[in-house]
Amino acid sequence: MCGIVGYLGKKEKKEILLDGLQELEYRGYDSAGIAIIEGDKLYNFKAIGKLKNLREKTKAYESEGFGISIGHTRWATHGKPTELNAHPHLGAYSYVVHNGIIENYQEIKEELQADGVNFLSQTDTETIVHLFEKNNKYENSAFAAFEKTIQRLRGAYATLLITESAPDTIFFAKNGSPMLIGFNGDDIYFASSDTPIIGKATEVYYLEDGEYGYAKEGEVKLFDGQGKKNFTKQALTTDKISAQKDGYRFFMEKEIYEQNHVMSETMMGRVLDNSIEFNELDANFFDGISAIKICACGTSYHSALTSAYLFERIAKVRCDVEIASEFRYKEPLLTDDTLFITISQSGETADTLEALKMAKRAGLKSLSICNVDNSSIVRESDAAILTRAGIEKGVASTKAFATQTMVLWMLALYVGQKQKTISDEILKREIDAMLQTPKVLIVTEKLHAKLYRLSKRYLHGHGFFFIGRDIFFPLALEGALKLKEISYLHAEGYPAGEMKHGPIALADSELFTIALMPKSMHYDKIKSNVEELSARDATILAISPKPFELADDFIQTAYDSHPMLEFFEMMVVTQLFALEISIRLGNDVDMPRNLAKSVTVE
Ligand code: F6R
Repeated sequence: MCGIVGYLGKKEKKEILLDGLQELEYRGYDSAGIAIIEGDKLYNFKAIGKLKNLREKTKAYESEGFGISIGHTRWATHGKPTELNAHPHLGAYSYVVHNGIIENYQEIKEELQADGVNFLSQTDTETIVHLFEKNNKYENSAFAAFEKTIQRLRGAYATLLITESAPDTIFFAKNGSPMLIGFNGDDIYFASSDTPIIGKATEVYYLEDGEYGYAKEGEVKLFDGQGKKNFTKQALTTDKISAQKDGYRFFMEKEIYEQNHVMSETMMGRVLDNSIEFNELDANFFDGISAIKICACGTSYHSALTSAYLFERIAKVRCDVEIASEFRYKEPLLTDDTLFITISQSGETADTLEALKMAKRAGLKSLSICNVDNSSIVRESDAAILTRAGIEKGVASTKAFATQTMVLWMLALYVGQKQKTISDEILKREIDAMLQTPKVLIVTEKLHAKLYRLSKRYLHGHGFFFIGRDIFFPLALEGALKLKEISYLHAEGYPAGEMKHGPIALADSELFTIALMPKSMHYDKIKSNVEELSARDATILAISPKPFELADDFIQTAYDSHPMLEFFEMMVVTQLFALEISIRLGNDVDMPRNLAKSVTVE
């Protein structure tokens, strides 16, 4: 999703902006641009595609002395990814960058066009800069014109505006899309997340929805609907996770390999010898709760689906899971004995955030499971459990899914413990299994080599079916999502027992079936489902601890003492399978086409 950076000060601005945008690359983008005002000089560069194109265009330019500057990576929402549609957008003498969607842009645009304004782009963003310049004709200051502009906007936005009519000032506003302000002496920074400013700013303020204001050298004035506002800066972390890939070909590969380490982090201080503890939750957090509703999107939704089996089986609490974008418009019946859980890697997914706001309006207690502290979803929730996966740069989520699922497994035990629905013996057995998870996630050279060799046979065909039962059904969904996201091959996840109710009609030798066949859960049932497919000549890749005669290809897994251990081991296999196929197909697996890391629009 779009990323914003801004800088005001005397340092070289081009590099600050380009480096900052580089740090936001993981959010996904299709064009980028920067604008700088130094005294009465105004510079603007835009390029479609990767940042190296923008770097190339700015090669001959270097900024000098004090100035104001803004930059943007764009993920197309209104209008195609072209240079004209790339931000910053220019009015007659001002520039704007924006993240989010202005819902009433069409109405504003028509008004401005009636006044004779000529629009160059197809974007909603361009309306902001023209509306500002119109207001600036009548208001007595550029800030008053900006304030009036913001008051007119509906929808989600984070925006920065610079103008020749106030060449020492950056105007900012935030509503529904993330933005923060960084401080270091007289230097002021802006960004969509803190990665671009780590190492540059020392303190930070995370803007709240409805806040806006302006920044000048060494000072920031903040306002909201009630007027001027005081704010407290906080220290910015210096623990910058390097963007380097540590020798791996892709961030996704690195992230698959580091799952065993991050899993230990996820459990640290929470999984104790005989109990599960969450310091984040008040002792009475679950009092009065008799049901759980989970909302999430994509991969996070798959971890939610997995957990529904665990909450009901282990904690004996009713658990429903819904895709956030569906939940938003179904007028759901919500009762206040329900805990509303949102799951999100980024913490900024618009659909999930909106579902959370709806649940809060209905008076439900909320809990988020998230990878990004201070993100919108975390801040909006009554309580949050961080997954501690570290920055996930690969657009296709891997370690975030693993850690989300682990937190949910822990939470199911925690609820069982609190509500006394689980015996000490079962708790101990689950904890013993949990503590083995990091070991299960280690990627061995042998496994990776095997998947590399095998992947060459799966580059064609008319589709993939990942099949599994119980918790292995959401894992099948996730395996299929991973493959389609980065290989662009068609893949579906299906409950194994459901194939005979329709999809089996597709079976022939060009239908690739990835069968998740755990030994510790419904082995015989899934075996007969796979036999039915094999009898119709489907090509079978079986993943199982037990050799399976009818498999065309076979990956033997090692851990079979607990379904969750089998789950995590098979998860790694499906991730590597998707990775190796996609690399062979020559795809950029870290930034697959049409996808964004953080989906902050509906
Ligand atoms: C898939 C993927 C997406 C996200 C989805 C939700 O690999 O990453 O499906 O899971 O966009 O994002 P978060 O978890 O950030 O809310």
